Amino acid sequence: MANLSIRNLDDAIRDEIRLRAARNGRSVEDEVRVILREASQGGLTAAADLPQEPLSPAPRSREILRQHSGSQPKVTLIIGGGIAAYKALDLIRRMKERGIHVRVVLTQGAQKFVTALAASALSNERAYTDLFDPQSEFDAGHIRLARECDLIVVAPATADLMAKMANGHADDLASAILLASNKPILIAPAMNPLMWSNAATKRNVAQLKRDGVRMIGPNAGEMAERNEAGIGRMAEPTEIAEAANALLRPTVPQPLKGKRILITAGPTHEPIDPVRYIANRSSGKQGYAIADAAHAAGADVILVSGPVELDEPRGVNVKHVESARDMLSAVEAALPVDIAIFAAAVADWRVVNEGAQKLKKKAGEAMAPLQLTENPDILATISKLESKRPPLVIGFAAETEHLIENATAKIKRKGCDWIVANDVSPATGIMGGDSNTVNLLTRDKATGEIAVDSWAPMSKEDVAATLVARIASTMTKDTA
Ligand code: C5P
Repeated sequence: MANLSIRNLDDAIRDEIRLRAARNGRSVEDEVRVILREASQGGLTAAADLPQEPLSPAPRSREILRQHSGSQPKVTLIIGGGIAAYKALDLIRRMKERGIHVRVVLTQGAQKFVTALAASALSNERAYTDLFDPQSEFDAGHIRLARECDLIVVAPATADLMAKMANGHADDLASAILLASNKPILIAPAMNPLMWSNAATKRNVAQLKRDGVRMIGPNAGEMAERNEAGIGRMAEPTEIAEAANALLRPTVPQPLKGKRILITAGPTHEPIDPVRYIANRSSGKQGYAIADAAHAAGADVILVSGPVELDEPRGVNVKHVESARDMLSAVEAALPVDIAIFAAAVADWRVVNEGAQKLKKKAGEAMAPLQLTENPDILATISKLESKRPPLVIGFAAETEHLIENATAKIKRKGCDWIVANDVSPATGIMGGDSNTVNLLTRDKATGEIAVDSWAPMSKEDVAATLVARIASTMTKDTA
């Protein structure tokens, strides 16, 4: 092939080609080769058309790449060097099941646990390991691996990799991709509980959150090390794949499309007289966040809300109620549903001798004692229905002591399937606050066995998203 020269072209065309080459990180000569190759493939009709082609940041060569994999969203999956790396192989499959195209990068550490060969066999793609790889079909490989995707997922995200990300290191392929990326990043931390609770990791987590990095997990449980347990287990591959899917298809993921979900939220007000009532400190934030997340997942959502100071979630059918009895009626009227989540802090008692008129103070006279009677237990009532019992009933347990013990007793007593248990002792600031530390208790329908999954502290929105992801993966399994 003759040498390429652009010297004889006119200034405007030359400048355009130089600009295009710079944008694509190629030499001018290589850029002209690409243009000619595209032209020969019918991408351009005549050489004279070249300068008129818009110099888009997504040139045709990239479009061709995209067409190869249809309209699938693309993930660059970075596997970090931890024992949970073996689960990342399953994650490749889980993402592919969700129609996600996966391209894998392994750190040096990851290669001690899993091989590039396994990753590439599962992803049907070459897996990448080196920053300076002469075999890469990509020029400036890390830049293109960073940009030619819709999302970067790091799983497992080790303490070291997170520290590198938080501080902008770029001394290997994984960290260089993360630094060069302008795409959303989702990390699934996994490390020893002591490393997770170390002040340095906490600083890095806070920094990464400020930088807009999304995080799933870590969960609590047994560690790979013998006799070690605590927070640090990587989230399950299905959870990560769901979270990735939700980020990739924020408006179209809809794993709960076609499902009808009922959620109760907020406190109830139990009238003493027309102006006074008994209430509690529930803000309704958690239930509203779940309604939002369920709607985002495509569900048809009915939110039965006690009195709260929150805006109605968009797209959700909200029924406002005051008392526990109103709440029960609204819940019964909403049946049948596929999933019912009882996040409301329903008052346990109501006043029997409710005043028809405002109770008056009488000088020197004590107030007549308020007679209380038990309110209907909405969760237990719905859980025990013979007909119209929703296939999945989820309760909440707000406890100030013996959290798991009390929540386990509650799941049995009320007859629900799952309980979201949280410690609401005043020191936690959960009641009315913005974050939540949750334990999810799930009861196996066949064996009755109860499993406990402890989630790391997270915002109420993240609790909602994680719960909805968990519901979606359970519903998919049940109907598979
Ligand atoms: O018994 P306890 O109030 O701790 O139970 C909490 C769970 O039960 C929550 O899911 C709450 O919404 C539900 N509940 C209910 N009706 C009641 C009391 C609690 O639905 N009267």
